[in-house]
Amino acid sequence: NWTTGNVIEEQVTAIRERVGDKRAICGLSGGVDSAVAAALVQKAIGSQLTCVYVDHGLMRKGETEQVEKDFVAATGVQLKVVDAEERFLTALKGVSDPEEKRKIIGREFIRVFEQAQAEIIADEGPAVEFLVQGTLYPDVVESGGGTGTANIKSHHNVGGLPEDLEFKLIEPLRKLFKDEVRMVGQELGLPEEIVQRQPFPGPGLGIRIVGEVTKERLDLLREADAIAREELSAAGLDREIWQCPVVLLADVRSVGVQGDGRTYGHPIVLRPVSSEDAMTADWSRLPYDVLSRISTRITNEVRDVNRVVLDVTSKPPGTIEWE
Ligand code: XMP
Repeated sequence: NWTTGNVIEEQVTAIRERVGDKRAICGLSGGVDSAVAAALVQKAIGSQLTCVYVDHGLMRKGETEQVEKDFVAATGVQLKVVDAEERFLTALKGVSDPEEKRKIIGREFIRVFEQAQAEIIADEGPAVEFLVQGTLYPDVVESGGGTGTANIKSHHNVGGLPEDLEFKLIEPLRKLFKDEVRMVGQELGLPEEIVQRQPFPGPGLGIRIVGEVTKERLDLLREADAIAREELSAAGLDREIWQCPVVLLADVRSVGVQGDGRTYGHPIVLRPVSSEDAMTADWSRLPYDVLSRISTRITNEVRDVNRVVLDVTSKPPGTIEWE
């Protein structure tokens, strides 16, 4: 008989037994899965767990603060934050190819994470033997599970492991679906903004800028994305849509007229989708007045953006993300 209480109790007992007096580490991404996995393990072994959050500078507005403040306040977890924005931006300099970007972000992430790991291991204390991952049931199935699913984009998940790692894995969400993970998170007292967070890719805004990733472009996209999220929430649409990537076409310019002159700016794409599991998706039929408010605000408030366009492609053939 499935209840969140049962799942929590069962996992807490199992994790406690398995970890014993050793230590564990967990990478936090700001997403639901790693947050719930970490909270569960924290409940089981307390200060024997250390979480690592790599700030790659590709997060959306307010998300890093949410992890640093709200998540820590709710769980009491030990958190090590690594500010690696410079490093990621330097590594991404001059790169426009989507797969190349994904590889660089994945590679840098692992390097930074391993460095943080090494520092934690070097601390005084029991051996760090375990690594916590927020793997869900659909991840298990999608990443091979014997089905031979084609890997269309090189997916990078925070905490994504180098091949030669000698940690033992703790994957407390391996049998759960997303909605169940949210229920468990809620039961564990995690902040609503984290529990109800829509999916966000590991490579972050880095794959939502079509073209080279620069600090300036990231700041611009962060503003546009924050506006879209604000308006979608205000309209009560958060649960209706699966997610709404906001994409900056940095390599495209179009002519516009704003204030008293001609502009030559960039388009922002809204990609609201409805989906059950992200394997297939349909574009969300958002109310025109909501679209209109988002468009007006973005073009008024975000410098260098003079056009907002709507992506009306289902998946397939379009993927949810643009890169
Ligand atoms: P696509 O673009 O393949 O995306 O239709 C399907 C879902 O996966 C998310 N996504 C990622 N998630 N690391 C992740 O953790 C990634 O590299 C990644 N790429 C895409 C995407 O946001 C959508 O929910």
